[in-house]
Amino acid sequence: MTEAKLEAWHDETRSFAPSAEFAKQANAQPSIYDDAAADPVAWWRTQADRLTWTTTPTKSLEWDLPFAKWFSDGTLNASYNAVDRHVEAGKGDKVAYHWIADAVGESRTITYAQLQKLVAQAANALTELGVKSGDRVAVYMPMIPEAVVTMLAIVRLGAVHSVVFAGFSAEALSSRILDSDCQYVVTADGAYRRGAASPLKPAVDEALESCPNVKAVLVVRRTGGDVGWKDGRDHWWHEIVDRQSEEHAYESFPAEHTMFIMYTSGTTAKPKGIFHTTGGYLTHVAATHDYIFDVKPDTDICWTAADIGWITGHSYIVYGPLINCVTQVMYEGLPDSGGKDRWWKIIEENKVTILYTAPTTIRTLMKWGEEFPKSHDLSSLRLLGTVGEPINPEAWIWYRENIGSGKTPIVDTWWQTETGGILITPLPGITATKPGAAMTPFPGISADIVDNDGNSVGNGEGGYLVLTQPWPGMTRGIYGDPERFMETYWSRFPGMYFAGDGAKRDQDGDIWLLGRIDDVMNISGHRLSTTEVEHALVGHPAVAEAAVVGASDPTTGQAIVAFVTLKLSAEDASKDQSALVEELRNHVAKVIGPIAKPRQIILTPELPKTRSGKIMRRLLRDVAEDRDLGDVTTLTDPTVVNQIAELMEIGADVDDDLTR
Ligand code: WT7
Repeated sequence: MTEAKLEAWHDETRSFAPSAEFAKQANAQPSIYDDAAADPVAWWRTQADRLTWTTTPTKSLEWDLPFAKWFSDGTLNASYNAVDRHVEAGKGDKVAYHWIADAVGESRTITYAQLQKLVAQAANALTELGVKSGDRVAVYMPMIPEAVVTMLAIVRLGAVHSVVFAGFSAEALSSRILDSDCQYVVTADGAYRRGAASPLKPAVDEALESCPNVKAVLVVRRTGGDVGWKDGRDHWWHEIVDRQSEEHAYESFPAEHTMFIMYTSGTTAKPKGIFHTTGGYLTHVAATHDYIFDVKPDTDICWTAADIGWITGHSYIVYGPLINCVTQVMYEGLPDSGGKDRWWKIIEENKVTILYTAPTTIRTLMKWGEEFPKSHDLSSLRLLGTVGEPINPEAWIWYRENIGSGKTPIVDTWWQTETGGILITPLPGITATKPGAAMTPFPGISADIVDNDGNSVGNGEGGYLVLTQPWPGMTRGIYGDPERFMETYWSRFPGMYFAGDGAKRDQDGDIWLLGRIDDVMNISGHRLSTTEVEHALVGHPAVAEAAVVGASDPTTGQAIVAFVTLKLSAEDASKDQSALVEELRNHVAKVIGPIAKPRQIILTPELPKTRSGKIMRRLLRDVAEDRDLGDVTTLTDPTVVNQIAELMEIGADVDDDLTR
């Protein structure tokens, strides 16, 4: 990438200083960066004091690359730290979750004292079913309070949860159950989506046909109706959990006791079982949640609009916020369950102060239009967050202007399933923010951007994002496959953790994430990020969303093919689509440079996405490469559309490493 291009990019964006008022309230003081940098390991050790340890650790880091141990001689119980200790401290009546159902009007409020009892009952029930410390338990549940209760009950027993997103297929579920040999499954009969019940239990039954080791299945009744039943194996939650004692004496476990496994796609078809341990992970999520979201436990209402089936839900719906004893909103439905203003209604009614979500959702909300947020009072919001993919500056600005009353700081947080918690982010009261930039490593985190040979790049240059020192929340490995762990993350650049993302440092030294390196194109020897071209396209007033792929090209190596959805109004108004396509190509050329002019732009009513909302770029690349699209400007070829539609159906099974 040339300097001129980086400059052009940077000049187009704005920088926001933290507001004076916000800086005054902030939890973190500016000295935090220097304090942590002076001795990162010692700094993290002080962060571990946020937890209540049964045995206080005397050790901090033991590092035998690629295997880290943090606080290894300490012992603790994760569930006690998340719930019981707050009740003991007199916070029992504080609301832990305002749970809001898919259906408008249905909700449930759960205090910390109630949560403690529910967790105790679930832990007793799991014990009755045979669950013991070290056992793996698969969790395949919708966004209902029982999902959180289940996770906390499992870790309370020292067992290991493997939460599988409920949108995954039976086959995906069974492969995950088999890989970590889960002998127990907790699920529900079904889930609600936009008012309609969709079954879950049949997928479990189908998955278990190939999982002979599963001894017991615990089933929450959420939707009612008939379900298949295997006597002896299947148990209703209301029959076995509700009759248990509301007290449960917890045991303490070593800091390095495995706490959970979370599967994530790799470059091969087999998903990787990323596992995390207890003391370091909890320290990391508690500290990041507190400093990055500037949490005030007495007044904040936090809403992480994610699913517990992903790491974001684990770290910032369950463990981080509970450790910090905050009140949260937990929402079961889709953004438009009950209307396109549902989110804004939830924020208004619950006086949400901190909202954390993904760029893809922000763009969807943007596409629906400003009238929806405008019809609600969103003034309770004081901080907004984003995660999951690079956010285009237009979406960032829209988020701040329309959701954040034009003044809330936005924290663009970079991290991964593997990192456990956030690693690169602004701190709202201290650092400036720039639309589209994740800015700077969190205190105590050593990140760098390196070239092909592993050398640090200078300001204004791009390269690969690496972590150069271990951190407490880092994965301890791929379950059952230490070699793959070494090979995937620690071999590309010796001594460094290779994240798989491209990044650049702007002229001020601030970090911009450019997407997976798989998404970096090489056009006539020039490196270009698909994200950059997408940002440019989305910057055009007619464009709602864009996905760009590098398709192989005999002349230029790769050529840019863009798939574009138009804003509703533009779609209606624009009759001459080939003129619009030409305009868009020129627009990109103008924004980034002629080299970035897409070879082809294809207008399509939808972009294929995985169920987690990530654009399936690899599928688009296949479409762009394998099919002779000729001079098509509109993707109406039924075979192509069918192929996309078909893959959207099975989206959850598709290796999405390349789609991030
Ligand atoms: C990948 C990790 C972290 C929870 C959700 C995703 C991309 C994540 C950002 C961000 C640019 C981001 C990266 C990363 N990513 N956050 N703020 N800016 N890219 O977890 O499924 O493990 O995906 O998501 O490409 O490697 P995940």
